[in-house]
Amino acid sequence: MNDPSVPGPPAVDPLIALRPWEAPEVTSWGRLPMNAVGRRSGVLPLDGDWRFQLLSAPDAPVGGAWTTAQVPGAWTLQGTSDLPQYTNVAMPFAEFPPHSPAANPTGVYEREVDVPADWAGRRIVLQVGAAESVLLVHVDGRPAGISKDSHLAAEFDLTALVRPGARATVRLTVVKWSDASHLEDQDQWWHGGITRSVLLYATDPLHLADVTVRAAYSGELRVDCLVRDTGGALPEGWYLTGDLDGQPLAQDAEFDRANAEDERVSDFLGEARLLAGVADVRTWNAETPELYGLTVRLHRRDGTVADTSRHRIGFRDVEVVGRDLLVNGERVFIRGVNRHDFHPLTGRTVSYEDMRADLVLLKRFGFNAVRTAHYPNDPALYDLADELGLYVVDEADIESHDHAHEIADDPRYLNAFVDRVSRMALRDKNHPSVIVWSLGNESDYGANHDAAAGWLRRHDPTRPLQYEGAAKLGWADPDVASDIACPMYASLEDCLAHALSGKQTKPLIQCEYSHAMGNSNGTLADHWAAIEATPGLQGGFIWEFWDHGILQRVSDGRPVGRGGAGLYDNGVAAPGHRWAYGGDFGESIHDGAFIADGVVFPDRTPKPAMYEHREISAPLRIECFRHEGIVLGNHQHFRGLDWLAGEWRLDLADGTTLTAPAVLPNLCPGETAAVPLPFEVPRDGGEAWLTLRVTVAEDQPWAPRGTVVCVPQVRLRGPAVAEVPPVEGRIEVDGEGLLVHPLLTAAPTLSLWRAPTDNDELGGMARRWRSWGLDTLVRKALSVSEDSGRVTVEAEYAGTTGVVRHRQVLTPVEGGVRVEEEAELPEAFDDVARVGTVFETVAGLDLLDWFGQGPWESYPDRSAGAPVGHHSVPVEELFTPYLRPQESGGRHGVRRFTLSAPDATGLAVALDEPRQISVTRYHAEDLASAGHHDELVPRPGCVVHIDAAHRGLGTASCGPDTSPSYLVAPGVHRWSWTLRAL
Ligand code: GAL
Ligand code: MG
Repeated sequence: MNDPSVPGPPAVDPLIALRPWEAPEVTSWGRLPMNAVGRRSGVLPLDGDWRFQLLSAPDAPVGGAWTTAQVPGAWTLQGTSDLPQYTNVAMPFAEFPPHSPAANPTGVYEREVDVPADWAGRRIVLQVGAAESVLLVHVDGRPAGISKDSHLAAEFDLTALVRPGARATVRLTVVKWSDASHLEDQDQWWHGGITRSVLLYATDPLHLADVTVRAAYSGELRVDCLVRDTGGALPEGWYLTGDLDGQPLAQDAEFDRANAEDERVSDFLGEARLLAGVADVRTWNAETPELYGLTVRLHRRDGTVADTSRHRIGFRDVEVVGRDLLVNGERVFIRGVNRHDFHPLTGRTVSYEDMRADLVLLKRFGFNAVRTAHYPNDPALYDLADELGLYVVDEADIESHDHAHEIADDPRYLNAFVDRVSRMALRDKNHPSVIVWSLGNESDYGANHDAAAGWLRRHDPTRPLQYEGAAKLGWADPDVASDIACPMYASLEDCLAHALSGKQTKPLIQCEYSHAMGNSNGTLADHWAAIEATPGLQGGFIWEFWDHGILQRVSDGRPVGRGGAGLYDNGVAAPGHRWAYGGDFGESIHDGAFIADGVVFPDRTPKPAMYEHREISAPLRIECFRHEGIVLGNHQHFRGLDWLAGEWRLDLADGTTLTAPAVLPNLCPGETAAVPLPFEVPRDGGEAWLTLRVTVAEDQPWAPRGTVVCVPQVRLRGPAVAEVPPVEGRIEVDGEGLLVHPLLTAAPTLSLWRAPTDNDELGGMARRWRSWGLDTLVRKALSVSEDSGRVTVEAEYAGTTGVVRHRQVLTPVEGGVRVEEEAELPEAFDDVARVGTVFETVAGLDLLDWFGQGPWESYPDRSAGAPVGHHSVPVEELFTPYLRPQESGGRHGVRRFTLSAPDATGLAVALDEPRQISVTRYHAEDLASAGHHDELVPRPGCVVHIDAAHRGLGTASCGPDTSPSYLVAPGVHRWSWTLRAL
């Protein structure tokens, strides 16, 4: 401060006077070029509490009271009056690009920084990890720089503005709304703040300005370095050395000579190259992510080191050949997910541990790829992807969804497009995990995209690029800026038709598919069966990883923020709290629960759909059962089976379970081999299922030994039909023909409705069901007759537009009653949620045991990951707490079940054939009338559904509905079951 050698603060602040928040041409001022120089030592972290005030507009005077704010962190989650707002497409304000509203929350962050005295003579750089959406930097009142591009770091050279050994006041002003907001209209919460770390570091004036690593599958390594000296012209005699895992690397003399003789080479920019050929190189891929440590050193003529850059690099190739995306020459399947930066307490501020936990979970559930939807992530995420083994589609921070058409060709935004794409590539180019660049999302397609694509192709010819907005114009069109046909939510039929058309020219990898909103991801297994069987189809990225519920206190509607750790468990918020979605912070423009569309809950608890994914990605599979034994197949691309262990299990319908250790054959990728049947299958015992429980044999970086990888299964013997003979006895029914039973508080009646899932609601099915009156069916008994103990009840269930005839025949059997049912649906009811029985039990029956698919929730079109067997789960844990209550807790393929109290009393139900059932504490109406999980009031007993037919889940909240084969047809449905006391 008060250094006479630097001018004092200007009277008019030029950063404010410029009004950069309404100037799309201004993407930065005073910002250093982005680069990929690796980690340096000598860093001064500036995270922690900063002085803070929130202005009503960027040009409002600073002068109010200071509070404090955490950096990194969004102010919208730190007790300010400006709260989170969720919109999908709609901009939260009416102004057209490039304008922003006059009411424009602006956060002023300030703190003192003691610049280390031993930084004298060094180049001093401020790095701000991320700020939304315009960052203005002042040091001691003097302007230092401007930056936009909310998800990439901005660096500023402060050498001339600070004095080593003295204290400086750094002010970071963050303007929430700007011309750039129109480019950051991603489907997520709007926040404001500094969301990634801030730090100061120092280098020698002679420094590495960039390092570009090319490490090929062949083992060839090329490291290109840019060298600058902020002191002036480069000094004579500088040179590079390097090493790779301790092996010295030599500077390429040819390359230097070429430069030295080139008159165009400036005195101010040095270029040099390190070259090596690594023999027997251990190559990188997502299955075996081998990394090498690379160090690059810049030396002065006297040999002293001026700068050092450290990297972990991987040797691999990626290319598109015809309609295949090849990694190291292999057509790898892309089992991807779209991941936003998200945390229920801190919004877009995500710690290293959290990022690691995200990726570890993905690995454990069979994912091998991440699309950084829809902006570059924290640098640590790419380090983690390199280390754990995940392919990354790295996406630039460009989504102009609401004004896409205007902006794509607006020359005022041209600079921003190229800036955002190029800065991403400049930062991330050295990561082996990054295999594809993405130009952004949902921004139409215009000249600005082609400009950015042109820059990319020139700068990095080693990777393909994709852009959905361009691919949309023609999946096979060679002239659009996308090397991959990367549609979103294309139907399986369309994908197949394209792959079989003979016209396909590019790999088809959906950038988004299988929308995971609520109880969803129906037909995922059908997609993968087709993908694996069809050349040209190579996978896709599920939308999306997170349910973005923000932890909220119900009493005052405030976000809990950083202090909320421990206030949630197993996907559920603690009493007095809930997962907020759109509208819960009083927003007038919002898109409701559309923000809750991930495969994990806001606390990262996996939803049942994750188990489906785990199974369809199984690296080891049972291909079939033949007379010579069980045929196993290795479905990986690069790895053998030695990292896996297995255990066989045999489940017989009579309750017998046998286990035996499995000896896995040594199979190369793609190979199959038969192994002998591990058991003598008992002659009796009925239906028989053989399961291979596959686990991790030795600790992996992402899973300890023993972690389950998959549970492939094969049926060895089908069910035997068991006749239940009638016995003498009496069935008690009331005057309406309703069964009276000591264990039931509500008699079995017909059910045609389910609490609409998000897919049912947004796909329009729920509206039709309501219009037919299926949610409020009125039952009328037509006749009740008895014939030697057997009671027949004819009833009618009237909706508003049709009547369903229903017959129940109740027969006494040993220990209970057999219920045979028949329902006839009119043609008009051509797509109902279910046809089945519902009843309610007495309280206290809190454990469900069943033989069928499980143990987790499954539905007709999402049941590939739920093996058949004997399962046992407390009733409380059967229910999946989707953020917006809806149909939940179903179990598919159930043959029989018991519901019991701790003293082993209760009821047993046997079904005529494998059926969909559910046992919860809620009636469908209870679920349908609640907006959040915390509004549900559990009933004391169990609400039990047994369905003759249950509609698939599909993904119609955004994308295709379930396939016709999973719909419930009108006409006659028959089913039967027996109920006994235990
Ligand atoms: C896509 C979009 C995503 C998200 C999704 C629906 O169109 O790219 O950002 O909005 O739909 O959840
Ligand atoms: Mg969008």
